[in-house]
Amino acid sequence: MCGIVGYVGNGSARETIIDGLKKLEYRGYDSSGIAFCTDGKIEIRKCVGRIHNLEELLSKETLDSHVGIGHTRWATHGAPSDVNAHPHANGDSSIAIVHNGIIENYVEIKEWLAQDYGVNFLSETDSEVIAHLIGVYYNGNLEDAVYKAVDKMRGAYALCVISKNEPDKIVAVRKDAPLIAGIGHGCNFIASDIPALLKYVREIYLIENNETVVITADEIKIYNAQRERVHRDVFHVTWDADAAEKDGYSHFMLKEIHEQPKGLYETLHRRLDENGEIVLDGISMTKADIENFNKVYIVACGTAYHAGLVGKSAIEKMAHIPVEVEVASEFRYRDPFVDDKTLFIAISQSGETLDTLAALREAKSKGARVLSVVNVVGSSVARESDDVFYTWAGPEIAVASTKAYTTQLMCMYMIALYMGRTKGTVEESYYRAFLTELSEIPEKLKAVLENESEIEALAKELYKKEQVFFIGRGPDAGVSYEGSLKLKEISYINSFAIAAGELKHGTIALIEKDTVVVALATQDKLFEKMLSNIQEVKARGAYVIGLAKEGNKEIEKQADKVIYIPDCIDEITPLLSVVPLQILAYYIAKERGCDIDKPKNLAKSVTVE
Ligand code: G6P
Repeated sequence: MCGIVGYVGNGSARETIIDGLKKLEYRGYDSSGIAFCTDGKIEIRKCVGRIHNLEELLSKETLDSHVGIGHTRWATHGAPSDVNAHPHANGDSSIAIVHNGIIENYVEIKEWLAQDYGVNFLSETDSEVIAHLIGVYYNGNLEDAVYKAVDKMRGAYALCVISKNEPDKIVAVRKDAPLIAGIGHGCNFIASDIPALLKYVREIYLIENNETVVITADEIKIYNAQRERVHRDVFHVTWDADAAEKDGYSHFMLKEIHEQPKGLYETLHRRLDENGEIVLDGISMTKADIENFNKVYIVACGTAYHAGLVGKSAIEKMAHIPVEVEVASEFRYRDPFVDDKTLFIAISQSGETLDTLAALREAKSKGARVLSVVNVVGSSVARESDDVFYTWAGPEIAVASTKAYTTQLMCMYMIALYMGRTKGTVEESYYRAFLTELSEIPEKLKAVLENESEIEALAKELYKKEQVFFIGRGPDAGVSYEGSLKLKEISYINSFAIAAGELKHGTIALIEKDTVVVALATQDKLFEKMLSNIQEVKARGAYVIGLAKEGNKEIEKQADKVIYIPDCIDEITPLLSVVPLQILAYYIAKERGCDIDKPKNLAKSVTVE
């Protein structure tokens, strides 16, 4: 949510920052801007729209510098507009800032600055107050002024500041919003996230909460909240720069859909030893811990929450422990019953989602043991958890999550299986058979992807529809929610998912002639029930797309179209069944001419409440 890039060095700040902002556009993309320290003053250029609008604006002049900060915005306070875009400056433009987060007491600060200092505000943002606040406190030392300003601010922030009076440095500070510093040669960088810097550096410092960083071309100094210098180990980024490129695909989303067999293979095999045993290297949860748990909470947001729904069934079935799944924004304010017998599982692709992080802290403070399922190594959720089970999806760039979801599912199955085995609630034969099924998934998924053109043809038939329902039972219900979310978030078609058995308690009132219903019927033991649900919607005129396992031909008699997935055990069908739904959403959005990788109003990493 909002992306930040800063550069200090001998090269072109403009080129590096624009390039970095493009890589961070997934964090927000309603407006962007850049500020340079140049010729004894600060120059700011900013405008509404995507980064290419900013590039176009800058193309009219040669403006550049060796020091600069840039920002791509996801609006919270104040609509997307040129004036609300970052950077923001103080009254005499001696200070400029870019900010990711929300300053909760900005109204209070604004009133104080207006009354006591006669400050005029140009924008409707909360962020602008920061520039004025630092300006008011500035007395020849930028770090001092930033410390004083931060003392007065409440909320979440990753903040980068430049001053025309100290034109060789950037001061940055973070609280509950991500920030990394990149170590270059003769230059240094600051950014919200690793992809922004992949082209330039592989060695970074992960900045911790409440730390301040002072960056010059030769040095990166990190200070804690007490202003003491702290040592930080260098973090080596192992991602390949190409992993963050489209690689010939028309969109990141399509590329990431196709990367799922590899991601699933990696996620499984990195935790299997030569005897096929699940090994939890680096995870300190013991047999005694597992036996001690009497409750599991799975907490997450968006797609990760949908992965949690499937995880619940797996853990309850295999480990015989009651599991609650909850969206993080509800959990954190509900005062849930959590104690030292609770296992709290946070699922997050980015590891930076603010609500998930806050829920994790809440659970931890009540004594829960925290295990997280995270994609981004070194992210805040990963760092604050007792143990981390990494997904091996590689960088996920498209806002709509695909490969993160399936790899999260793989982790949930493995966690359930491991817990069940450890507790003795899973028998050896079941354990072996289940692992064999999981290991066959990557190849089966390749077979699903071979049907892409069939689903593309279906999308061409459906793309003008304005309403699509998804129904399913058991694990299929969880996948229905995810299929529906994929469709609505990238195609803007009104979509709704519901457990099929619940349909008749209200939602069926919306079914009429030609309403599209995607009916997931992959569960052998629930297949006939689903056929009845399909009949119920057919009787009201629905156009039904069935999704079933190969061989279950009976569904062809009821549904108007059928998509088949390879046969596998009921429990793990979500790993396969979600993929045709991802492809369907992708091609429908493409036919509708939508901006697939950057859907309107959304951002990939939601670091505000
Ligand atoms: C945003 C993204 C979703 C993602 C959710 C949770 O809404 O658009 O794709 O599922 O955040 O993100 P996380 O990084 O915590 O998985």
